[in-house]
Amino acid sequence: MSTATAEEPVLVAKDLHAGYLPGINILNGVNIEARPGELIGIIGPNGAGKSTFLKAVFGQVSIRGGSVSLKGADITGWKPNRLVRAGVGFVPQTNNVFPSLSIEENLQMGIYQKPKEFAAQLEKIFDIFPVLADRRSQRAGSLSGGERQSVAMARALMMDPSVLLLDEPSAGLSPVRQDETFLRTRRINRAGVSVIMVEQNARRCLQICDRAYVLDQGRDAYTGTGRELAQDPKVIALYLGTLAADVEAETAANKIIDTDA
Ligand SMILES: Nc1ncnc2c1ncn2[C@@H]1O[C@H](COP(=O)(O)OP(=O)(O)OP(=O)(O)O)[C@@H](O)[C@H]1O
Ligand SMILES: [Mg+2]
Repeated sequence: MSTATAEEPVLVAKDLHAGYLPGINILNGVNIEARPGELIGIIGPNGAGKSTFLKAVFGQVSIRGGSVSLKGADITGWKPNRLVRAGVGFVPQTNNVFPSLSIEENLQMGIYQKPKEFAAQLEKIFDIFPVLADRRSQRAGSLSGGERQSVAMARALMMDPSVLLLDEPSAGLSPVRQDETFLRTRRINRAGVSVIMVEQNARRCLQICDRAYVLDQGRDAYTGTGRELAQDPKVIALYLGTLAADVEAETAANKIIDTDA
């Protein structure tokens, strides 16, 4: 059970500095927080440090300054297995399933720290992802990109996280599968899981999130509600301008495909 009060944020990153190589920081002071029940979006240019931020929170990149807290408790620098036990779930951008294992075995890996709860949790997760139940014995390596994303998200949910970190869940998917992914993410969020989602599909991300942050050069450059950022002239000019043209082109292309079908 959570001991968080209604107002206490679930996750707070304060003035986070982190990097891979000695003397070179990729994060130069990131401030991001997720309150209970929020769906937080993180957008920003390639190389801004979005994945690095999630990896730093999840103990995969060393933190050189600042802090991370979970429901008021300091979790700065904790290792991933400890974070998972404490209620942090993470779905990385790539390589997020065990390809040689079956779907069911992948889900088992998600809850290896509480093996007794596996069967009950599996039933719950199969309710959210019925397609995975039908294919439970299939090797994850033989699945489509969208199905793999489902397996990865389902695995992260096996431990009932209080906050779920998602790195580009819609990347590489067709527009229809992207929509499914966004809707499922929001459903999971509305069921009570706070979500921090990095997305390259910035407009769509701003449409569905409660609040968002623009990360640029390792700093949080802008923040606001999804709607505020989507309408902010500076954000549009700097981060959404070319994407808006892409969206229009994509919509036009879809119309052509629809007509063909
Ligand atoms: N393992 C690593 N070792 C050294 N540098 C790295 C490593 N991973 C990422 N970087 C560097 O950190 C910077 C930020 O990368 P990061 O992957 O966090 O960006 P991003 O915002 O997620 O970009 P994208 O939108 O392309 O996914 C980049 O300059 C990248 O080259
Ligand atoms: Mg990334």
